Amino acid sequence: MRPFVYQGLPSRVVFGAGALAQLPQAIQAMGAQRALVLCTPEQRASAERVAQLLGDRAAGIFDRAVMHVPIETAREAREVARQLGADCAVAIGGGSTTGLGKAIALDSGLPILAIPTTYAGSEMTPIYGITEAGLKKTGKDLKVLPQSVIYDPELTLTLPVGLSVTSGINAIAHAAEGLYSVEGNPVIDLMAEEGIAAIGRALPRIVANAQDVDARGDALYGAWLCGIVLGSVGMALHHKLCHTLGGSFNLPHAETHTVVLPHALAYNAAAAPQAMRRIARALGRSDSPDSGQAAQAVFDLAKANGAPVALRDIGMKAEDLDKACEIALQNQYPNPRPLEARAIRALLQAAWEGARPA
Ligand SMILES: NC(=O)c1ccc[n+]([C@@H]2O[C@H](COP(=O)([O-])OP(=O)(O)OC[C@H]3O[C@@H](n4cnc5c(N)ncnc54)[C@H](O)[C@@H]3O)[C@@H](O)[C@H]2O)c1
Repeated sequence: MRPFVYQGLPSRVVFGAGALAQLPQAIQAMGAQRALVLCTPEQRASAERVAQLLGDRAAGIFDRAVMHVPIETAREAREVARQLGADCAVAIGGGSTTGLGKAIALDSGLPILAIPTTYAGSEMTPIYGITEAGLKKTGKDLKVLPQSVIYDPELTLTLPVGLSVTSGINAIAHAAEGLYSVEGNPVIDLMAEEGIAAIGRALPRIVANAQDVDARGDALYGAWLCGIVLGSVGMALHHKLCHTLGGSFNLPHAETHTVVLPHALAYNAAAAPQAMRRIARALGRSDSPDSGQAAQAVFDLAKANGAPVALRDIGMKAEDLDKACEIALQNQYPNPRPLEARAIRALLQAAWEGARPA
């Protein structure tokens, strides 16, 4: 058996339909008295429900979370937390809202309780990102890992079907790259395969009926597992490409992951056959020796469930592909197959056109 290092991440998870009702006990378990509730402007109603549940322990609501955590928003939220005497933050929403909580925690050490409503998985990672002067800086610090997480599938019933599918494939991307990460280990492999399978099974059911709480539960369970993978082991080419496309070309987060993943997997297929077999198996493809099956299974999952499959359809301009390739080759993440400029450019072209990987 291969030797490995496994680094556990300390967090308490409460999972289940209606789990939000356990918020007061979860806050109490953290030893917190005054929580600042964070949300996006669109999720204000959910934040108000949270504040109501918290009663005396609600310090106030900050409802200006936005994508990529601009430093100005983070500073403003930190100041509001200070003025209100908050001793913890409750982030209800997707990765953007959790990200704002992390930015507050990074500076102030305030503990976070996260209530995720997408499948992005940020609540399970010690990774933060803050955007200053148009540049997103990321880092890792255990201080930003939410201490407590409540997963309540009922809160995801309102997640639009399109975003549910792309957010689910965003989660699959974390697990897929975890399976061939240089820091991979057998425990993470188990979580990754189970996470991909749970999401793969859930997405068609959510598309058929967005109000299917059981399917929502499976997707959120898968997202949890995939989030642990993201928080535990280093990511590779796929995440590098998505950070490039999101950071330098402002492409939408979950959609970009959805379009790029099949092509990143195709690029790595021959160099990581075991990981590919596990991904394909998790998505219900036969355990065949053809390592290209994983890439095709992800592409088919996206397409069959109405997600975008081409970069040109989500705002990427053809004339920017050369530049994207150049940036993606800088500060490379460890990857099973070395990054070759011509092959990466071809990958980007295929992703731009939305071609099904061969
Ligand atoms: N640090 C990490 O480990 C990590 C991991 C994953 C993602 N991220 C970051 O998170 C961001 C993306 O997060 P995201 O994809 O979750 O999107 P998001 O948080 O930006 O949410 C997208 C939109 O969906 C809305 N929304 C969320 N849940 C909803 C629900 N249940 N019902 C209705 N509307 C809902 C939000 O209010 C928002 O308007 C990116 O900035 C990404 O870099 C960070």
